[in-house]
Amino acid sequence: MQIAIDGPSGAGKSTIAKAVAKKMNFTYIDTGAMYRAVGLYMLTLGIDIKNEPDEVAVHLDEIRLSIRHEADGQHIFLNGEDVSDKIRTPEVSIAASNVAVLPAVRMKLVELQRILAAKQDVIMDGRDVGTYVLPDAEIKIFLTASVEERAKRRFAELCEKGAQTTYEDVLEDMKYRDKNDSSRAFAPLKAADDAELVDTSGNTLEESVERISKLICSKINEKRNEKECLSE
Ligand code: DC
Repeated sequence: MQIAIDGPSGAGKSTIAKAVAKKMNFTYIDTGAMYRAVGLYMLTLGIDIKNEPDEVAVHLDEIRLSIRHEADGQHIFLNGEDVSDKIRTPEVSIAASNVAVLPAVRMKLVELQRILAAKQDVIMDGRDVGTYVLPDAEIKIFLTASVEERAKRRFAELCEKGAQTTYEDVLEDMKYRDKNDSSRAFAPLKAADDAELVDTSGNTLEESVERISKLICSKINEKRNEKECLSE
């Protein structure tokens, strides 16, 4: 079974997807981490992603990505190095959004995402999972919340990790990424026609997790029963 959770950054996709994966024994795949790893690699090479898209394409073949699932969740390896922590900085967030505009980058990562989804029951989060990566996913959720609320949540997360940043900076980054991710030509951030739209504005993250996990779990059970009935 495939479950797609899409939406803008800070909507709570990963927290919800992790909780559901644990409860229902699915593999959680965080596609954003893959764009982040590519962004990190280009930053390391000193490439100005926005102004040198051809350079990104030239170096793309040097990248080998792999995913491993451990007790604390998904780990991502960039050319053999575990970069799961390194990819979580504000600079890498912007770099990820910028590399994600480039079709060559998307083709490479979507191929990997589809291979992973073909092997196991997955709950995959991203921007284009329901519309492009897994258009036949049995369950699709498009999660959102106001940009101010998402920035508030992300700011709190960053502060908890000891990052030196301000709410205003986080809000600016988020607005930049929302626009960049939604306005790109190839596989932009948008809800699939058959996705369930859920706005979590006004809910705490905990309340949202509870609400969406319940919704997804009941849909999974419905789909499993349907499958069982059909095979009987
Ligand atoms: O989910 P995230 O914040 O870790 O994603 C980082 C960036 O990667 C995001 O700004 C847009 C891009 N992305 C994408 O274009 N498509 C995906 N399926 C996942 C992420």
